[in-house]
Amino acid sequence: MTAADGEHEVALRDSRRLTSRLIPVTGLPRPLPLRLRADGAYLVTGAFGALGRILCRRLVARGARRLILVGRTPLPDRDHWHAVAPDSATGDRIRFLKELEALGAQPVLAPLDISDETALTAWLAGYRRRQSPPIRGVFHLAGQVRDTLLPEMDRTAFDAVYTPKVLGAYLLHRHLSDEPLDHFVLFSSIASLLTTAGQANYAAGNAFLDALAHHRRARGLPALSIDWGPWATGMIEELGLVEHYRTRRGMSSLSPKRAWPFSNASSARTGPNCSSPPSWTGRSSSPGTRSRRLWSLT
Ligand SMILES: NC(=O)c1ccc[n+]([C@@H]2O[C@H](COP(=O)([O-])OP(=O)(O)OC[C@H]3O[C@@H](n4cnc5c(N)ncnc54)[C@H](OP(=O)(O)O)[C@@H]3O)[C@@H](O)[C@H]2O)c1
Repeated sequence: MTAADGEHEVALRDSRRLTSRLIPVTGLPRPLPLRLRADGAYLVTGAFGALGRILCRRLVARGARRLILVGRTPLPDRDHWHAVAPDSATGDRIRFLKELEALGAQPVLAPLDISDETALTAWLAGYRRRQSPPIRGVFHLAGQVRDTLLPEMDRTAFDAVYTPKVLGAYLLHRHLSDEPLDHFVLFSSIASLLTTAGQANYAAGNAFLDALAHHRRARGLPALSIDWGPWATGMIEELGLVEHYRTRRGMSSLSPKRAWPFSNASSARTGPNCSSPPSWTGRSSSPGTRSRRLWSLT
């Protein structure tokens, strides 16, 4: 740390002095299209969020039929759907469910807080009792942001963001250990590497996802944590941070249509953690129009 090279993160391993660098990944094998199993189930937390919906459509397009949609907001019983205002938030969720059904999927609702271990284990016990299809994939997207500068960051503000990421991911890791998982995908953020002021809670939560993916891979379990850059939809867009990332960080936002080839590529990658690539130029005026590459931390 006292060396003159200005490095502020140094690890000493076996007499070697290591520092971290984010470098473009090279030599990736050409990704095979993702094929999912119609006889398995795929569990998506944060399924009704902006990226959750895009992902669910994508999973169905790749062969998934049974989708377990996890989110905290319950929906009324189907018998009462006719009375729900179509332009309400509930009406919007019902429309999404019907859309998935029209695509050939059988969505199963799991209305629970993913950091609530009692609720999760009770729901899983019921699912298994009904002899439902084995869970073949987990996609953990549940999360929220509550940007707060450190002097004002109290326990509540920290935990609101940290807990669904950390405890949610850990509980999925722990309670699905007996399922024949092919995929365990964690939606992390570039914020775990390049933090924006006010996002210590978000950075810490996402850094845990990256570490959990390493932990699982070291034990021979499937895992991939993707440090997404900002998307042109979802929480970053709602917070009005797309412009911040573009002008202050030189990162253009990922457009939903163009980002998915990278999730294919990232699933073909052998490492447990990769960054989805923003354009690092700081000059992009047109989000999502530049060519993108995967990056990895070495
Ligand atoms: N959008 C981006 O630019 C971006 C960039 C990098 C990484 N990411 C990551 O990608 C994921 C999805 O982002 P998004 O933009 O789609 O977010 P979003 O639209 O805000 O959706 C998040 C979803 O998570 C659910 N959720 C929150 N806390 C939960 C909990 N404790 N248990 C269960 N569900 C919970 C919410 O539903 P309920 O309120 O009904 O529970 C909501 O549907 C997040 O983890 C985010 O960190 C996003």
